[in-house]
Amino acid sequence: MNIKSYKGNYHVHFTDCFLSSLKSEAKTGDIFLIDENVLQLYRKQFSYFEKSNTIICLPSGEKTKSFDAARKLILDLMELGFKRNHKLIAVGGGIVQDAVAFVASILFRGVEWIFVPTTLLAQGDSCIGSKTSVNFDNYKNLLGGFYPPSNIYIDAAFLDTLSDDEIRSGLGEMLHFFMIGGRSDFKNFRDTFHHCCEDKNAIKKLTERSLEIKKEMIERDEFDEGPRKVFNYGHTFGHALEGITNYQIPHGIAVSYGMDMANKVSVYLGLLEENIAMESRELLSQVWRNTVFPKIDTKEYLNLLSKDKKNVGSKLNLILTSGWGEMFMKEVIPDEGFTEIVNEILNFYYSNNN
Ligand SMILES: NC(=O)c1ccc[n+]([C@@H]2O[C@H](COP(=O)([O-])OP(=O)(O)OC[C@H]3O[C@@H](n4cnc5c(N)ncnc54)[C@H](O)[C@@H]3O)[C@@H](O)[C@H]2O)c1
Ligand SMILES: [Zn+2]
Repeated sequence: MNIKSYKGNYHVHFTDCFLSSLKSEAKTGDIFLIDENVLQLYRKQFSYFEKSNTIICLPSGEKTKSFDAARKLILDLMELGFKRNHKLIAVGGGIVQDAVAFVASILFRGVEWIFVPTTLLAQGDSCIGSKTSVNFDNYKNLLGGFYPPSNIYIDAAFLDTLSDDEIRSGLGEMLHFFMIGGRSDFKNFRDTFHHCCEDKNAIKKLTERSLEIKKEMIERDEFDEGPRKVFNYGHTFGHALEGITNYQIPHGIAVSYGMDMANKVSVYLGLLEENIAMESRELLSQVWRNTVFPKIDTKEYLNLLSKDKKNVGSKLNLILTSGWGEMFMKEVIPDEGFTEIVNEILNFYYSNNN
């Protein structure tokens, strides 16, 4: 898959052997940056590069994608003699991706980087789209830009060592593209989803289609200035859930709840037929199944929702829907009726999971 970008085309390769892809990619002076859990699990495979290349182990967790960690990483790279003609080879999930992409974009005014995504979320979503970000103090994703890798190598073998939660989080994130893709994409996801546990090809198919839907949009709006904003579907409600639960709910699962909330609010505002919201909920609830949904204070939740950066004044700018493939931004006044419907939905999740 080739993706058009302001930086020229970049490429997604689906491979059954990441090691042989990396063997042809890694040159003298290139430096590997690998997530600590991935390095531990796949140490044997990566030991091949220990003689020829330096491997930096990045701690798992958000602290790795912070401004302070980026500063330290740049100092380490300088000490190791990294030059502008060398490449950074990132191996890990969205955290390693964001951190390495950020550093690659500013070091020597930009150096080449390669990405091997190892989580389903990174394979089926974040690996394309060019976004880079690091957290600054308590502000998540405050600093960043657009800086794609030149090559992405996707190997589904990495999924074997992911937890069930991480797999469902990746599926939830991918599902939001299928909902935006339209009715037939939604049905395709539903039919394929049931085979995901026993058949790796099913997950591969979903990953490829997810990236195809995303590719079409990011090529039209790489810098997120217009149509790409519909990808925030499920995210405004989802981010507020992540925030209020202190990130206890994994991102893609929070997005699944978020899509359901966007659907139910759309029904409440007369934009969406109830039966479409219920048909969607049937699938979404399979993604979030087993999640222990905590008791959430609706006022506190609405307060977080009002802090979303898309909002203007006291009105909320939400991505709502009138059906699969029909998402749009709508200004909503958070009045009594809105508060009541949000309260009802949050209570529904709580009572169904406990
Ligand atoms: N740049 C973008 O476009 C974009 C898009 C979506 C999300 N993100 C960012 O991505 C981050 C989340 O990424 P993520 O969900 O991939 O999480 P992650 O990178 O934190 O990885 C999740 C966990 O899985 C472990 N792990 C990774 N690969 C593994 C494997 N193959 N086997 C076993 N364990 C493995 C990691 O060590 C970590 O503990 C967030 O910071 C989010 O803001 C960025
Ligand atoms: Zn997301």
